[in-house]
Amino acid sequence: MATAAKVGTNYTGVQMSPKDTKRLLEAVNEIHPDVPGDEHGMLVERAERYEEADRIGSVPVPGSAKGMLKTGFDMMKGKSPEVFIDKLGERLAFERNGVRLYEAMIAKARNLDSGSALVDELQHIRDEEFEHMMLVHAALEKLGADPTAQTPCADVAGVMAMGIMQVLTDPRTNIPQCLNALLTAELADNAAWELLIELAQAAGHPNIADSFAKAKTQEDDHLLKIKTLMRRDLILQTK
Ligand SMILES: [Fe+2]
Repeated sequence: MATAAKVGTNYTGVQMSPKDTKRLLEAVNEIHPDVPGDEHGMLVERAERYEEADRIGSVPVPGSAKGMLKTGFDMMKGKSPEVFIDKLGERLAFERNGVRLYEAMIAKARNLDSGSALVDELQHIRDEEFEHMMLVHAALEKLGADPTAQTPCADVAGVMAMGIMQVLTDPRTNIPQCLNALLTAELADNAAWELLIELAQAAGHPNIADSFAKAKTQEDDHLLKIKTLMRRDLILQTK
C-alpha cells in the first residue's frame, strides 16, 4: 500500500503522446456519437423525472403520546417541528456514520503503521462522534420523536457520505488522501452543528440548544485536528 504520491507510468494526460493527441482531436470532429439525441434530450428526461418523482421520505409522526402533545403544541405555534426533527435525524445519521468513518480510518492508520499518536487522536474523535450521536438520540426522545426512524435529510446525508466512505475503505488510498476525505466530513459536520443550535433555539428548545454547545466546541476541535494532521503530513513530504 502506498503511503505517498509517487512518480510513475501514468498515461491519462495528453502530454504522454502529442501525436495521438492530434489524432484524438481530429476524431472528435469526425466521429459523432452513435447514441441519438443531445444534451437537450437529457434536460427533457430530467424534467419528466422531476414531475413523476415523490419526495425522499417523510418525517414520522411522533410515536409517544408525550411527544405528540409537545409536537402538536409547537405546531400550533407555527414552529414546524418536523423541520427540526428532520435535521435532528440528519445529524444522528451523520454522527453514526462519522463513527464508522473514523473506525475505517483507524484500521487504515494501523495497517500503515502510522504510529500510535495518530491512532489515539483518531480514536478520541471517534468516541466524540459516538457521544454526539447519543446526544442527538436523547434530544429526539425528549421531543417524543423516534430516533430509529430515517428522516428525509438523514437519507440524503447517508448518500452524501458514501463517497467519503469509499475513499477511506479503498485499500489503495494513503493517509493524506483519507484525511482529506475526513476534512470534507468535518467541515460539513461543523457547519451543521452551528445550524442545528440555531434551529433548536428557533424551534423553542433552548435546553436542547444548550446541550449541543459542547458538541459544537468538540467539532471545532475535530476540524482543527484534521487540518493540522493533513498539513503536517503533506508539508513533511514536500520539504
Ligand atoms: Fe467531528
